[in-house]
Amino acid sequence: MNLVVGVGLRAGTSYRELRDLVTEAVADAGRVRILITVDGRESEPAVQRLAAHLGAELQTVAPAELRRQNVPSPSEQVDGLAGTPSVAEAAVLSTGAELVVPKRKSGAATVAVGRLAAAPGYAPGERHVVHRVLAERRDVRRGFVDLPIPDDVLTRVLESAHRAPSVGLSQPWDFLLIREIATRRKIHDLASAQRDAFAASLPDERRQRFDGLKIEAILDTPLNIAVTCDAGRGGRHVLGRHADPRTTWFSAAIAIQNLWLAARAEGLGVGWVSFFEPGEVAAVLDLPAHIELVGYLCIGYVDEFAPAPELVRTGWASRRPLAWAVHQESWGRRGLPGAEPTSITQDAEQAAREVEPRESGQSVRVVVGGDPADYLGRTDTIVVQLGAKPEADFGVLWRPARNPVEGVEVGVEIVRDLALQGVGEIAVQVVEDGDVAAAVGRGLRVGASACGVGCRDEPVELSDSPA
Ligand SMILES: Cc1cc2nc3c(=O)[nH]c(=O)nc-3n(C[C@H](O)[C@H](O)[C@H](O)COP(=O)(O)O)c2cc1C
Repeated sequence: MNLVVGVGLRAGTSYRELRDLVTEAVADAGRVRILITVDGRESEPAVQRLAAHLGAELQTVAPAELRRQNVPSPSEQVDGLAGTPSVAEAAVLSTGAELVVPKRKSGAATVAVGRLAAAPGYAPGERHVVHRVLAERRDVRRGFVDLPIPDDVLTRVLESAHRAPSVGLSQPWDFLLIREIATRRKIHDLASAQRDAFAASLPDERRQRFDGLKIEAILDTPLNIAVTCDAGRGGRHVLGRHADPRTTWFSAAIAIQNLWLAARAEGLGVGWVSFFEPGEVAAVLDLPAHIELVGYLCIGYVDEFAPAPELVRTGWASRRPLAWAVHQESWGRRGLPGAEPTSITQDAEQAAREVEPRESGQSVRVVVGGDPADYLGRTDTIVVQLGAKPEADFGVLWRPARNPVEGVEVGVEIVRDLALQGVGEIAVQVVEDGDVAAAVGRGLRVGASACGVGCRDEPVELSDSPA
């Protein structure tokens, strides 16, 4: 059994008194994983020695958290002394454990014992740090300061990256550290060319917004790191890779995430640049032919970490709510754990009652069905294909809805996603006959009213010229 021992004690309690009390309370009920007490008492020598003796993790908990616990035997006396009606029992309960032994007292200490249903997680304060680094990691492209990265700091960051999970423990990544300015200039030229190409693909309003965005910091940081993947690493029988070779690439991408998080904890900003054809970068870096680029990172100290993604702050894109991304048991039953799942259509109808119209945003024409070649001459157009999988093209959304219900859902989801990418108005053209195409058109209208996106129906025209 995994046990938690909660301890309340007066300052200066002897180790022997505490140890005897705990030994008696625990008897042979199981292994003590956590010894927990109120903030401040962890520095008591008796507590520290006992934690070491038990091989338990020493955790602390704030009085406010203790007060929130519903304990079986609160004490007015303890409340007067510690500002909470219970320390030992409440500390146990704060870990999620269930009390298994009535609390025991000696002259100077009180002990409660609880059972954890599973191996313990981190203490609340430590957990907070983990969630904090996840929330505060940013893609950074601005505000780098002219400070070198000490070797030991960089090594720690790389060690974290290198600890990433990988399919069959194949560890397919390598990290190429690039400091040479001449090399970085060549890479910068590649990114600039791709930036121009992307800008040219945008409708006017979007291009103007894009012009204000910074998309890389290749020359602004003291260090660039090319993270690569060797898809054959580990030979023929890499465990778990045989049915899905993409897992090799997933592994390398996770290493980058580890690097990103560890860097954030060290105060280092990281910006991922993907404005490249990977082969062009490989050529500049003279990579062996079997080594492919996964991510190109710019890394350095920064003057600040922004509280939110730059793309959010500049209005380029918005975050997708978690509830849209969680499906329960089958695709489309969306909702957070514990909530009643809803369909995207129900959700949109509800949202439409509360939404404010969007004041601005890009205008996009959504064409349902038809031959993409007839419509994609205009940069503001997206073609929804319902049938066979089309040629890859970001202007074509393949949404093979099987019936009108799915058709409506597809339509709603398309608008929700477009709205997240800054679309403020859609023009709908349904060019394909049939129930499903008509349902997608309906879904687009429902989605538009749910997101405050303006919506108009456009007459069907072929090959019209750019606006
Ligand atoms: C695979 C990948 C490629 C990216 N490429 C670029 C890029 O080329 N330029 C850029 O400015 N940001 C790039 N980003 C950063 C994203 O824009 C950023 O992660 C997103 O806006 C969320 O912001 P956050 O990372 O600060 O939370 C990339 C991110 C990922 C994961």
